[in-house]
Amino acid sequence: MSSGRPSDHLEGTAIELRGVSRSFGGLKAVDDVNLRVQAGTRHVLIGPNGAGKTTLFALMSGELDVSAGRVSLFGQDVTSWSAMRRSRAGLGRTYQITNVFTGLSVQENLVIAMRGRQGDKLNMFLGTRPDADGSARIDHLLGVCGLEGRRQVRAGSMSYGEQRLLELAIALANEPRLLLLDEPAAGLSPAERGPMADTIRRLPRELTIVLIEHDMELALGLADRVSCLYYGRVIADGTPEEVRSDAEVQSVYFGTASSHA
Ligand SMILES: Nc1ncnc2c1ncn2[C@@H]1O[C@H](COP(=O)(O)OP(=O)(O)O)[C@@H](O)[C@H]1O
Ligand SMILES: [Mg+2]
Repeated sequence: MSSGRPSDHLEGTAIELRGVSRSFGGLKAVDDVNLRVQAGTRHVLIGPNGAGKTTLFALMSGELDVSAGRVSLFGQDVTSWSAMRRSRAGLGRTYQITNVFTGLSVQENLVIAMRGRQGDKLNMFLGTRPDADGSARIDHLLGVCGLEGRRQVRAGSMSYGEQRLLELAIALANEPRLLLLDEPAAGLSPAERGPMADTIRRLPRELTIVLIEHDMELALGLADRVSCLYYGRVIADGTPEEVRSDAEVQSVYFGTASSHA
């Protein structure tokens, strides 16, 4: 549960949005959002399908430009920064759809991800054997993600749940300070959701996490703080208990979010 208080050395803001909007044609997918994520916290975004959660992540990460507003990362205005530059500044993310090389082994996927951090453009052509440091780091990542013993397995032959855990390991290989997780448990069986939630809980407290999660129980069990998005707007922001009992959240979220493809 929300036992975690941000540690003393983690004062400050990891990411902040001020007046952020994003339109697609006539549709305001994100509408004047103000959101502050304190460093060292686990902040969960909830809201019905189509509320603008994934778009908000793309605006945080720089994959999409804002139509209006400012984004700051660890106190720096990054509104004009590319996704690559934000990634180098410590922002990592996973996607709603898995993003692993299914034809490669777990180890090969992680070697390539670690090279990404070093900025090698042609890393696919540099071979995929780790050096001793890399190998130790892979052991660590596999331990964190509950994939011990799976190092040489071809990613595509693993269960969907394991592939999602590998995707998390890939994101961690970049050593982010802020990690955006877009529905990491989407499509997982009930038996696979536990290991995913345990893995997220095991992540170090100094890593700030923003998590989009559709499963309310899983979300509230992980969150220090929750924001609810509805038609592109933040309609509630507070502790899990506050947001769960918010009248507007109850009517719009619980009333409309029951179906999710
Ligand atoms: N690239 C895009 N082009 C046009 N419309 C989009 C695009 N991405 C998202 N949308 C629309 O923006 C709204 C929010 O989508 P999204 O951010 O994916 O919501 P969520 O992740 O909360 O389900 C939806 O109406 C969606 O159809
Ligand atoms: Mg989404």
